[in-house]
This record gives sequence, structure tokens and C-alpha cells, in this order.
Amino acid sequence: MEKIAVYPGSFDPVTNGHLDIIHRSLNIFDKIVVTVVRNRNKQPTFSLEERKELIHRVTENNPKIVVDICDGLLVDYVKEIGANTIVKGLRAISDFDYEFQMALTNRKLSPEIETVFLMTSGEFSFLSSSVVREIAKLNGDISGLVPAGIKQVIEHKFRGGKR
Ligand code: PNS
Repeated sequence: MEKIAVYPGSFDPVTNGHLDIIHRSLNIFDKIVVTVVRNRNKQPTFSLEERKELIHRVTENNPKIVVDICDGLLVDYVKEIGANTIVKGLRAISDFDYEFQMALTNRKLSPEIETVFLMTSGEFSFLSSSVVREIAKLNGDISGLVPAGIKQVIEHKFRGGKR
């Protein structure tokens, strides 16, 4: 049976750290559904559709990667698409409290769904979407932080096409 995992996140925008987790999770699973989730506690820079499109652009040549949007409860979505695993990336210990709470909450809601954590590759341990947004906003160089194919779109969002 095909092993499908859901990799959920805000992806506002997707970074090279996210792509590292996506590609490494394919060593374990047959298919990864990268799911852009509406986080009701955050005001995003990119719309759900824009975030989905950015991930699609940098993963479209791999048929094992699917990109989707979830606007409700994550565990309901995971069941709906016939998966039973959630993949999350862990960077520093500072990620742990939040991820631990989410994983236990999701297990309480749906005990049949397992959450699996992949440690980030060291080179991306500092990297987050908010770091990318901050640098782009201040006209800094985001090369190496996001895939080359979407760098300009991200810069354009913050700088209105200047530079
Ligand atoms: O990239 P992020 O912002 O760390 O991702 C967090 C996200 C979107 C994965 C998390 O907020 C989430 O799973 N939201 C889905 C809504 C949900 O199911 N909430 C109940 C579990 S606490």
C-alpha cells in the first residue's frame, strides 16, 4: 500500500528549509502532500493560493509531491485524503513546545494519525519564512534561502518590482 504523508505548514513563503524536509521525507514515504494550512493566529503575506502556487512551481517536476490547501481541521483533512501520517520539521529546541502541543492535540483528536518529526539539516537550522520576509522587506539578499525559481516573485511582493 502506498505510504502517504501530509506535510502541513503556513509556507509564507516556502523556503529551502521546507524543501529539504520535503525531499528527505520522500526517503520514507511514497508520496508527500504539501498542504498549505490557514493559520488563524497569523496574518499572512501571501494568500493561500499564492503560497500553493509557489510550492507547486518548485516541486512540479516530481510526481511524488502534491500541493494542496487545507482550510479546516488538519486531522480531518489527513483522513479525507486517505493518509495517516503528518510530517513536521524540527529546527531548534524552541520549536519543540509548540510542535509537542500540536502533535498531542492531533493525537487526542485522531489517535490513528501519527506525527513524525524530521530534524532540519544543520545548514537550515536558522531559516524560517519570517526570516525570509524580514530580509526581503529590508532589501537584503534571499539567495540560498529560497529556491532560485521563486526568488523574484518573493522580492517583487515586498519591493513592488524594484531592484
Ligand atoms: O508553518 P506553521 O505556521 O508552523 O504551521 C502550523 C500549522 C498550520 C501546521 C498548524 O497551525 C496547524 O496544523 N493548523 C491546522 C488547524 C488545526 O488542525 N488545529 C488543531 C490542532 S492544534
